Amino acid sequence: MNFLEVVQARRSLRSYLDKPVEREKLEYILESARLAPSWKNMQCWRFIVVEDSAGRQALAESMGESNPGRKALIGAPLVIVLCAVPTESEVWEGKDFMMLDAGLAMEHLLLAATEQGLGTCWQGLFSEEKAREALNVPAIVRVVAMTPLGYAAEERRPRPRKGMAEIVFHEKWGQA
Ligand SMILES: Cc1cc2nc3c(=O)[nH]c(=O)nc-3n(C[C@H](O)[C@H](O)[C@H](O)COP(=O)(O)O)c2cc1C
Repeated sequence: MNFLEVVQARRSLRSYLDKPVEREKLEYILESARLAPSWKNMQCWRFIVVEDSAGRQALAESMGESNPGRKALIGAPLVIVLCAVPTESEVWEGKDFMMLDAGLAMEHLLLAATEQGLGTCWQGLFSEEKAREALNVPAIVRVVAMTPLGYAAEERRPRPRKGMAEIVFHEKWGQA
């Protein structure tokens, strides 16, 4: 797959096979995240790999019942939790680069997983306090997101996106 094909193939997958993820693939995916760009190269991100079913259950319980991603955390063989250390990034003119840095690393991770034939689903809607407690994350560290990782048990069509004309301008804001 070339890069655009990887991007096109990625989907938020919420249903997973009971099949383990190969260690080499996990390492490849984490390495892709490790190499992400960041504000002043401070690399605020940390990843917690949760394979233990009690740990995944606790993370699922940090989500509301209505979150469609909840079942994925239990069904997938493992979950990767994205944390960020606030002292390893900065806010500049109101822009929170910590969240941006962490998000970039996570997107590297999601795309690398896709390229390796694995499914993911970014999860943002959870109780940070409950997730922190479940994983012994220090109070100063933010728990930003998590994703199940595993082989997909479902086919999903791509979700729609805004058209190019709506999001790309030429020379000045609003110019087609
Ligand atoms: C910041 C962020 C938070 C998200 N939170 C959740 C979530 O809590 N639960 C869930 O099932 N999907 C969540 N998603 C997945 C989005 O719903 C999904 O990316 C979007 O609908 C587009 O679909 P696609 O990823 O299949 O292209 C989140 C995605 C992002 C980027």
